[in-house]
Amino acid sequence: MKVLVIGSGGREHAIAWKLSQSSKVKSIYIAPGNGGTHLNPKFKNINLIDINLIADFAIKETIDLTIVGPELPLSEGIVDLFRSKNLNIFGPTQRAAQLESSKDFAKDFMYRHHIPTAKYKTFKTPDEAHQYINEQRAPIVIKADGLASGKGVIVAMTDKEAHDAVNFMLVDNKFGDAGAKVVIEEFLQGEEASFMVICDGKTILPLATSQDHKRLLDQDMGPNTGGMGAYSPAPVVTKEIYTKVMDEIIYPTINGMAKDGIPFTGFLYAGLMITKSGEVKTLEYNCRMGDPETQPILMRLKSDLFEILYNAALSQLNSTKIEWDARTALAVVLASAGYPENPKLQDEIYIEDRLISDSYIFHAGTIYKDNKLLTSGGRVLAVTALGNSVKEAQSKVYEVINTVKFNGAQYRKDIGYRALNNN
Ligand code: AMP
Ligand code: GLY
Repeated sequence: MKVLVIGSGGREHAIAWKLSQSSKVKSIYIAPGNGGTHLNPKFKNINLIDINLIADFAIKETIDLTIVGPELPLSEGIVDLFRSKNLNIFGPTQRAAQLESSKDFAKDFMYRHHIPTAKYKTFKTPDEAHQYINEQRAPIVIKADGLASGKGVIVAMTDKEAHDAVNFMLVDNKFGDAGAKVVIEEFLQGEEASFMVICDGKTILPLATSQDHKRLLDQDMGPNTGGMGAYSPAPVVTKEIYTKVMDEIIYPTINGMAKDGIPFTGFLYAGLMITKSGEVKTLEYNCRMGDPETQPILMRLKSDLFEILYNAALSQLNSTKIEWDARTALAVVLASAGYPENPKLQDEIYIEDRLISDSYIFHAGTIYKDNKLLTSGGRVLAVTALGNSVKEAQSKVYEVINTVKFNGAQYRKDIGYRALNNN
């Protein structure tokens, strides 16, 4: 079979890596891919971004299955486009992808279907938004309605930060259309976890649990990022919490979408806040796998990813089983200097040719140019390893990191600390 993966990050590298272990897969194309996928003879990078050109490519190359990594092409309607051309694709339609591409859509959906989430209001004009902040007071959370490359959420600890965020979006239009509406919501406290499932419109196949580390610095200090590291499983998701998430969030979401006439196909990611008293609330939906959560999750996957996603694309998930390695997998992101504000690019990356078992270096912001591997984005690599315990996986990752060098590399030294405290 011929498979096409859309995207260029660590998540897509991990998806392609796992697909390459399937005996059914003969060719793997990645559009556009990165330096790491370029260097791997099992993959072929295709330098395309435009979804129409990607569809033409899929027709010409008779691609059997396309898997979409990031949210942008989903929100542009790549799934609708491929289906209109009778091409097999795994992902949500443009309408279903609104669960991620519009916070207002997602909040309204959760309210109508009684899915637990923070109390909120949506605003289009600054005066009413400022007034609401004056009534509710900080801490409070301001969210741009649309996609804003992970920068659209401001957790305001003071009233001033909240007012400034409203002005940034509604007065100065800094996010353009994505910030033409803002969602203002109640500040929630607790421990976050990522919960992902695969869905074919009817049947749900839950993936292993995971936890991401969004802040740049150790001990969850510093600015929010796309994610500086992750591990799977997440001990905070106990059996009780797992059942609650399935019953109160996942089933009502999938059933609610079907009832609304927008059946959900693809990866559904619920960002969770788990409170001390064991309540679970939905912080957000994503319509794709998380990055860097995908890297440790797929390292634990024992089943054939191609079979699972092919069955899902054909709406035949009901007889599909999924098996996991019982060990812990952990990923640490190496980011470029200046990330997340102003990542410095074009630094040469050196990776020692030393094999360390049960580990893998997934590439994200890398490019291969003039026989050199260079940084080309904020998050550069996700070093991932398996271990019999969180501690063992963590030690192995940091051992692998010692084999990698580039100027200004920054990474957290404490990925997995919550799980270690939980043991
Ligand atoms: P989101 O993209 O909506 O998940 O928001 C990004 C990050 O902002 C989350 O991972 C949380 O750390 C934080 N966040 C979002 N919503 C809230 C909330 N209602 N209360 C506290 N923190 C939040
Ligand atoms: N790591 C969080 C996300 O992928 O949205």
